[in-house]
Amino acid sequence: MKRHLISAGDLAKDDALLILDTAEEMARVSERSIKKLPTLRGRTVVNLFFEDSTRTRISFEAAAKRLSADVINFSAKGSSVSKGESLKDTALTLEAMGADAVVIRHSASGAPHRLANWVRGSVLNAGDGTHEHPTQALLDAFSMRRRLGNLDGRNVTIVGDVLHSRVARSNVLLLHTLGAQVTLVAPPTLLPVSVGTWPCEVSYDLDAVLPKSDVVMMLRVQKERMNAAYFPSEREYSRRYGLDRDRFAKMPDDAIVMHPGPMNRGMEIAAEVADSARSTIVEQVANGVTIRMAVLYLLLGGETA
Ligand code: CP
Repeated sequence: MKRHLISAGDLAKDDALLILDTAEEMARVSERSIKKLPTLRGRTVVNLFFEDSTRTRISFEAAAKRLSADVINFSAKGSSVSKGESLKDTALTLEAMGADAVVIRHSASGAPHRLANWVRGSVLNAGDGTHEHPTQALLDAFSMRRRLGNLDGRNVTIVGDVLHSRVARSNVLLLHTLGAQVTLVAPPTLLPVSVGTWPCEVSYDLDAVLPKSDVVMMLRVQKERMNAAYFPSEREYSRRYGLDRDRFAKMPDDAIVMHPGPMNRGMEIAAEVADSARSTIVEQVANGVTIRMAVLYLLLGGETA
């Protein structure tokens, strides 16, 4: 394993499998009445969030605390960032407080990579711009593996706003490493120009792809990142690319539905599909704690679990 986790593409298959297997051990800890391990006692994890988050921020905090680390939560709102303090100076200030690991979410793609040049501890990318979100891909793979078993040869369809999605890129890279076949389905306007270099297929016809899918992962339409009209209307988007009851019926009986959250219910996914027994959306949140425990444990070099 490398010292940092910045891109899902940095993980060799053995690294990814080690994280997923370690997460199984951590899941057993999470089922106990006392969910804590002493493993990271005396270590400090800083959560450095320059962009809003619910799931990732809380689950990194829960994961570090379950491993007995000291946790410092930093949010740009209310900090000296509003006085113009740079990312580098903010990071060096936090490092002076003894950070062994810095978990960073930032609106700028590449911010975790820059940070890794300035701090001595491990850097964990908790989502950078439209670039990557590697722990989301790991928790997604963990959730798929728990429902479906080995991912080798499985067909995973990722649908929606790929252009603005760091989740899509990290999932394509990790799932390819794990031997799954990924198909992206999106309007041409919501695909990055570089998608031809990604290790996946592309389709514009969701109805044709659904019957062959073991997993259908819906992506949030990221209206806050859109500075132009990428589709004629929300209604038209839903009609072509939304997962409603009729489309859900076209999936194989044992196929699962995923969404990284937060969801636009009624737009990319119907409420009854999101809440169905074949949806893993709530499990994905719980698995986020488990995966982040495994990653912190492996990067910070904890001893025995
Ligand atoms: N999936 C995800 O990253 O959610 P948050 O933005 O709430 O962390």
